[in-house]
Amino acid sequence: QEPRRPVVAVDGPSASGKSTVAKALAKALGIAYCNSGLVYRAITWSLVDKGVDLDREQSFKSAVRSMKLECRIEENELHVRIDGKEVGQEVRSPAVNAAVSRVSASPWLRKRLLPLFRKLADDRALVMEGRDIGTAVFPGTRFKFYIDADPKVREQRRQKQGESDSIEERDWEDRSRKAAPLRCAADAVFIDSSRMTVEEVVLRMLEELRKRGFPL
Ligand code: DC
Repeated sequence: QEPRRPVVAVDGPSASGKSTVAKALAKALGIAYCNSGLVYRAITWSLVDKGVDLDREQSFKSAVRSMKLECRIEENELHVRIDGKEVGQEVRSPAVNAAVSRVSASPWLRKRLLPLFRKLADDRALVMEGRDIGTAVFPGTRFKFYIDADPKVREQRRQKQGESDSIEERDWEDRSRKAAPLRCAADAVFIDSSRMTVEEVVLRMLEELRKRGFPL
């Protein structure tokens, strides 16, 4: 089933360049940019902050149930609040990086977040970035991309962003989990961005959107 409003799904591993191109594409299209990873990070941050033992399923679930999670789009960007507090850079900390794949592997949590992500497209067109947007969140959209890059290039890009922890382990966890693992949807356009500039990738995406009938 197609989403109510046009949705561009952008999936791929960490440091593949997908955030940069998804943001630039949304800007070029004049529509909202939503980073679904921010929601998983915000929840993880809150769990870590509260000292919740992630190995104890009941504690994990009750902590998530008691969180007040709010997602809204303002000025074409997703804003996330947890327990009334807007999340910021703290969700990019090494502690969150280390725990986020474990948290996001929970099928229970993913199921809970699905309606929340889908609802964002009820009243506006958007570009949504993540790991399973084209396969699980909006499988019905015609506009899907999978952005990848050489592991070496991704490691360099990550270091440039000032992050030193290895992305390999997180990628492996994201790819091998049972619930909505990271993979390229059969009907997604695969782009290897290793030797491409941001502009080149965005142009390639715009060209494909035009071909697929995106309302430009
Ligand atoms: O895009 P990111 O690195 O900020 O995402 C952080 C983590 O969240 C990533 O390791 C896996 C998880 N994630 C997910 O499971 N599904 C999504 N749609 C987006 C992110």
